[in-house]
Amino acid sequence: MEIRIVKDYGEMSKKAADVVAAQIIEKPDSVLGLATGSTPIGMYKELVRMYEEGIIDFSKVVTFNLDEYVGLDEKNEQSYHFYMMQNLFKHINIDMKNVHILDGNAKDIDKECSNYEGEIEKAGGIDLQILGLGRNGHIGFNEPDVKFPKNTHIVDLSESTIEANSRFFRNAEEVPKQALTMGEATIMKADRIILLANGSAKADAVFGLVKGDIKPELPASALQMHPDAVVIVDKEAASKLEG
Ligand code: F6R
Repeated sequence: MEIRIVKDYGEMSKKAADVVAAQIIEKPDSVLGLATGSTPIGMYKELVRMYEEGIIDFSKVVTFNLDEYVGLDEKNEQSYHFYMMQNLFKHINIDMKNVHILDGNAKDIDKECSNYEGEIEKAGGIDLQILGLGRNGHIGFNEPDVKFPKNTHIVDLSESTIEANSRFFRNAEEVPKQALTMGEATIMKADRIILLANGSAKADAVFGLVKGDIKPELPASALQMHPDAVVIVDKEAASKLEG
């Protein structure tokens, strides 16, 4: 696992966008795993800029999002479907047939999850997975647990995640209590992974991810075992790594 400590959020976003752009230039039909949340917004802005400047072309790119809340309609402004349209898809030339996001309203959740795994496999697997990091060390919505969850599955969100994500809703009661998420194994199967984290609220999780024991109580620690994982963190998020 490689750690890149950068000055601030702007530099983290640029560095991450450069990795994604290089991947698309090298392989125009790349399969990307995408994250939502506050962290990658700057990276998506950079990617949109690069697209507008003709540096990258998304016409053949295939995407799979990490997760989606259960019970939110895709038109709901807090859904990850809506987020992806607003922050990336509506600004670029991606073919929406190549976009995959879990359906949190699926009637048959098990089928939805196993189909998602099948779609990823059919696409040839994920070339580059982008991850954020929960304050509690989650990746996707793989919450701290006593075992590493494997494939795409439904999860009960932890109190700390509900509280952290309540900033996007009017109050904590409105935050869905469940989500569908790629599992740890789904994520670990990606050829390359970049994880982004910024701000002091992530410093403990970054410490656990980089220097802690590999354990399901800190889901991101599994990345220590990945052969090609790069962690891009700003100084604040990296503040507990020194010494
Ligand atoms: C989002 C996701 C989550 C977030 C994490 C950090 O698709 O999978 O793991 O990356 O909760 O969220 P932010 O970036 O809002 O701090």
